[in-house]
Amino acid sequence: MSALPSVIRAAAPTEVVNRWRASLGATSASACGELKEIYRENWPTQGELIVTGACDFQCVHCIYPPEFARHNRGVSAEDWRAMLDALCEQLDMDTFVYGGRSLTTDGLRVVTDLRERRPAAQIGLIDNGISMLPRKQALVDAGVDWIDVSLDGLRPAHDLQRGRDGSFDAAVRGALWLKEHGAAQRINILTCLTELNIGSVCAMIREVNALGFKNFFITPVTVAESVRPAANLAPSEEQFAHFMRELTSTISELDDAWVEVLLFSPAYARYVADLLPEVWNSMESGRDSLVWSDKRPSSSTAFFVRYFPLSLTGIRELIVNVNGDVIVPKAMAYGLIRDEHKFGNLLRTEPKKLIRSVPDSTAFKFYMRELECEAHFLRSVM
Ligand SMILES: C[S@@+](CC[C@H](N)C(=O)[O-])C[C@H]1O[C@@H](n2cnc3c(N)ncnc32)[C@H](O)[C@@H]1O
Ligand code: SF4
Repeated sequence: MSALPSVIRAAAPTEVVNRWRASLGATSASACGELKEIYRENWPTQGELIVTGACDFQCVHCIYPPEFARHNRGVSAEDWRAMLDALCEQLDMDTFVYGGRSLTTDGLRVVTDLRERRPAAQIGLIDNGISMLPRKQALVDAGVDWIDVSLDGLRPAHDLQRGRDGSFDAAVRGALWLKEHGAAQRINILTCLTELNIGSVCAMIREVNALGFKNFFITPVTVAESVRPAANLAPSEEQFAHFMRELTSTISELDDAWVEVLLFSPAYARYVADLLPEVWNSMESGRDSLVWSDKRPSSSTAFFVRYFPLSLTGIRELIVNVNGDVIVPKAMAYGLIRDEHKFGNLLRTEPKKLIRSVPDSTAFKFYMRELECEAHFLRSVM
């Protein structure tokens, strides 16, 4: 899914999200005009790289359909090198996330090569704690800055959501191995919150924090309507509010933990506005997000709730599919990516030219539609 901000991202100017916020009250035409201006003035700084479409898991919550690799054939490590060089040189891109879908030998070559050529770049990688196992030593040698390991609740919930018995224990063993071998400065835990695991995520945090993991990023499931995953996986408003209260009290018992709840849908933001007004009303503007934080000076524990409007995703990250196509968020849910979800291809178009064409492209309608949904959900609470 969407590339997650790591704890390392610095605070940034706030004017963009404030312009977005102001546009929610405007007419649809002027809001879309303002969104285009925002995209003309702000280019993405982070590459979300889908280096392979293959994965032998079939997690029920996954935004990718199981047959994704059949429709999406990858390009060579040399092609990736050319695309990544161009992104660094033309867009000053400085952060890259290896996000999908499993860690392959070729994928690791792309990461290792990027590390060697761009020593100052921030490079992160997401894994289920299992697919990296055959290449774990090479992963350590690659020298990435952070690794996110996915844990979706305690054993029964995780194994159910991930469709494989024993996958929780295997993922924890994988994460521990990475930590013990210094594979990256930060080994974070990522959780996709669903109706299946919402009752056990806090217990998982307690258990895994006791093993020495400090950073937890929790994202309620993203659903591409009428495509996948099943809409009924999304937690209800009441479940979410109950979870947030349980999480608050769990965090207060931990000595050293960094916990972020990351919201990408206005429906979830609305849950916070309706049921947790004390959080909603004290959210502050980040560059492309609204942020609430509880960071006590006397403790090493920090708790954040961040809402990233999907209409602004493209000023933060550029999603590059296995064949070099630059695509909109959620496009992968369709398996065979639709033409209307592609901005262009980095093997055929220079990044600068591609980025300049974004606001006037057909694919930009995705962001305009998201902006309309955001206005619909949030007008009354902004
Ligand atoms: C697509 S996976 C790729 C890496 C690896 N296969 C894994 O599962 O960690 C990246 C992250 O996106 C999360 N994810 C997948 N589908 C999602 C969805 N519909 N909503 C929110 N997160 C999702 C996964 O749980 C995982 O943490
Ligand atoms: S969430 Fe990760 S492990 Fe699960 S099916 Fe999707 S890509 Fe594969």
